[in-house]
Amino acid sequence: MSIESNWCSCTKCHTGYGWKDDEFDFKNMENIDCLICHDTTGTYGKKKKNNCGFPNDSVNLMKVAQQVGLPTRSNCGSCHWYGGGGDNVKHGDMSSALADPDRVQDFHMDGLGFTCQECHTTRKHRIAGRSTTSAVSEGTVTCLDCHEKTPHDPSSQLLSSLNDHCDAIACQTCHIPKYAKAVKTVMLWDWSQSGQEDKMLIETEKMVKQLSKKKGLLIKEKALKPSYEWYNGQHRRYLKGDPVDMDGVTDMNLPNGGIYDPQARITPYKLMTGIEPADLKNGYLIVPQLFGEGGYFMDFDWYQAAENGMKAAGLDFSGRIRFVETRMHWRLNHEIAPANEALSCLDCHHPDGVMDFKALGYEGDPAVTGGRDTLEP
Ligand code: HEC
Ligand code: HEC
Ligand code: HEC
Ligand code: HEC
Ligand code: HEC
Ligand code: HEC
Ligand code: HEC
Repeated sequence: MSIESNWCSCTKCHTGYGWKDDEFDFKNMENIDCLICHDTTGTYGKKKKNNCGFPNDSVNLMKVAQQVGLPTRSNCGSCHWYGGGGDNVKHGDMSSALADPDRVQDFHMDGLGFTCQECHTTRKHRIAGRSTTSAVSEGTVTCLDCHEKTPHDPSSQLLSSLNDHCDAIACQTCHIPKYAKAVKTVMLWDWSQSGQEDKMLIETEKMVKQLSKKKGLLIKEKALKPSYEWYNGQHRRYLKGDPVDMDGVTDMNLPNGGIYDPQARITPYKLMTGIEPADLKNGYLIVPQLFGEGGYFMDFDWYQAAENGMKAAGLDFSGRIRFVETRMHWRLNHEIAPANEALSCLDCHHPDGVMDFKALGYEGDPAVTGGRDTLEP
């Protein structure tokens, strides 16, 4: 799914006033929406759909303008918690629960009262922090910006052993033992099931399975254990027009790195499966128009939506569609638990441990078979 042909709906977060087509002037400062981040009244943030990034008519702009202030978590969250069309849909570690979390939910944003920009330091409005999905980056944020490289008590034999692990394991891996702790996150999004009437199939405290006429079959879950992969600071990315695997799974943003890459560390991820329309003949993903006249959400016609969307995206559409399986990697950085909930020795070094050591490239449990520096490539 992409922004082209869906401008007016998407640009309430992909910001800019009046961004409705590809002639939007990114350099014109007057097109920047300042208030979305600087409003303190809480009335400004909820923009209508299909309003091309303009605020709702009901907002008292005078009142908002008189009460500007530094961004709160909710200012940033008005976009970041709701990407993908709902609370915590995409990331799994970023939901409205961060507006007022308790310390189990997120240690820094509760007890320490951190704002987002406390970690995502900002210079001249360049907000630091690498994204998992987009190549744009205005600097990195790491735990080491504030913590020691070896943060655990070196005088204790057990705790100093944790420090030895930090060369191979990211801090987040041990300190985010669970994610989506309060709000369910989408784990499966099957667009091929769309067009049927809305229906709740299963609803429990931990899981929801539902049919949505617009979006298809969705499975949302909470209190999940992360998946673990080697990550060296970069992801590969599927770009518009890249080939897809018609019969297997296409990774949209595989992390770079592996067991022999000294820069890489074992890092926690949410893995999300998608079933998305592809162009059978051209062998790439379709960019459908979703909103407005001729969009999928209006007519529930994939062919029309593909026809229009592909034109806007500048890609050839063969007229043949097949649904294919895709997988997204969402790196987890938030919802850090208090230290006493961190993963400890037996959470990993145990036959039922959270890690599949062989899948990560070890011969077996490395406490027995040895760490990666004992392996030969
Ligand atoms: C509620 C706010 C919001 C809306 C509405 C929104 N987005 Fe986003 N989108 C985001 C944010 C925030 C990001 C940056 C990464 C993140 O935090 O997920 C993003 C990132 C993306 C990305 C990069 C890859 C990814 O999946 O993160 C794509 C593609 C995208 N959006 C497409 C769209 C399209 C197409 C629409 C309209 C149908 C849309 N977005 C509407 C908030 C939104
Ligand atoms: C994406 C969110 C975002 C947008 C959009 C945004 N700002 Fe900011 N702004 C910030 C953050 C974050 C800070 C730094 C706050 C801090 O360091 O605690 C900041 C700081 C400022 C400051 C300095 C305040 C101080 O006391 O140091 C001014 C002035 C400001 N912004 C004006 C603007 C104007 C004018 C616009 C529109 C052209 C704008 N901002 C758009 C997020 C944003
Ligand atoms: C109006 C919606 C909106 C608001 C408000 C907003 N963001 Fe974003 N943010 C986005 C979108 C959309 C992207 C993805 C940009 C892209 O990939 O081109 C993004 C990207 C990011 C990234 C990833 C790095 C990057 O450059 O892609 C970080 C980190 C981030 N935002 C932090 C913040 C913080 C901190 C605040 C509050 C001070 C904030 N954002 C407020 C919409 C928003
Ligand atoms: C305790 C520190 C901390 C706080 C507080 C924090 N973040 Fe982050 N965030 C991180 C780290 C670390 C990363 C990884 C950035 C990198 O690799 O450069 C990250 C990544 C991100 C990304 C990129 C996500 C992705 O995988 O694409 C976004 C967007 C983001 N944060 C938004 C926010 C928002 C919004 C808030 C406030 C509600 C917030 N962060 C609060 C530490 C923090
Ligand atoms: C902007 C600074 C900052 C960043 C970035 C940051 N922290 Fe912290 N963190 C703190 C402060 C301050 C404390 C409280 C004092 C302390 O315990 O060191 C703290 C405490 C902690 C604690 C102790 C919790 C407890 O129960 O005592 C853990 C664990 C932790 N941080 C992990 C992380 C991880 C993992 C990251 C990276 C994702 C991170 N921090 C990023 C500032 C930061
Ligand atoms: C292999 C797992 C593991 C890794 C990797 C790890 N930690 Fe920890 N960390 C723990 C455990 C377990 C504790 C709780 C120790 C205890 O019982 O006092 C802890 C405690 C902490 C504390 C609280 C320390 C104190 O003395 O109160 C901080 C802060 C912290 N870790 C930060 C980090 C940072 C930053 C990184 C990355 C450089 C990191 N940790 C990497 C498992 C890990
Ligand atoms: C998050 C999972 C995790 C936790 C928690 C964890 N380990 Fe490990 N451990 C690993 C991994 C992965 C390696 C391999 C590291 C490498 O390749 O250098 C390892 C390596 C080891 C090794 C072999 C070191 C070597 O280089 O030969 C020993 C011994 C060990 N761990 C003991 C412990 C003890 C004791 C604790 C608790 C204090 C602990 N581990 C906590 C995952 C974990």
